[in-house]
Amino acid sequence: MSELMSLLRKRRSIRRFASRPVERELIEECLEAARLAPSAENSQPWRFVVVDETELKKRICNAAFSGLYRVSRWAADAPVLVVALARLDIITNRVGSLIQGTQYYLLDMAIAGEHFVLKATELGLGTCWIGWFNSRSLRRALKLSRRFRIAYLLALGYPAESPPSRSRKPLDEIGFFNTIPKD
Ligand SMILES: Cc1cc2nc3c(=O)[nH]c(=O)nc-3n(C[C@H](O)[C@H](O)[C@H](O)COP(=O)(O)O)c2cc1C
Repeated sequence: MSELMSLLRKRRSIRRFASRPVERELIEECLEAARLAPSAENSQPWRFVVVDETELKKRICNAAFSGLYRVSRWAADAPVLVVALARLDIITNRVGSLIQGTQYYLLDMAIAGEHFVLKATELGLGTCWIGWFNSRSLRRALKLSRRFRIAYLLALGYPAESPPSRSRKPLDEIGFFNTIPKD
């Protein structure tokens, strides 16, 4: 199996982490992988806020994982949280959503996030995407400028679990050569 395929197979959402801190150099390598991601019109709307300070992390978790979002509380035990911010004032975003109805920046953010996640996997780190968080409350806690939207959070750390792989649809349900799926 190619290195890429085995990396893709190795990646798993990790929700339990060792308390061991993550070396800054490793996080920088993940950021570098994200930096290389493609984006619509090369707009690079991403800004990644890496949070590894206990007090700031607590403040973020209290805001992000409150109320309905308590189920995401496990992420408070991750040694690092990455807050993925998207710049909204980029012209490609505006034109794209206005004319085509496509939020290009969300596509860009996702691609860069997966670059980050895959590099982390290669380095022996565990990650989990977090889309379920209190965005309003987190915005307030961070005093975030209106220029930004919080696209997602990533939990990052050395894994303390090795969950079994989750099932995927078979290839013939997701890939189509010269035919259009009915449903
Ligand atoms: C955009 C996105 C948002 C997600 N949000 C959450 C989340 O809020 N909480 C969580 O525990 N997992 C979250 N996940 C992880 C998915 O549940 C997970 O990727 C999926 O179940 C497949 O499992 P695997 O990553 O181990 O292959 C998210 C994944 C993606 C891609």
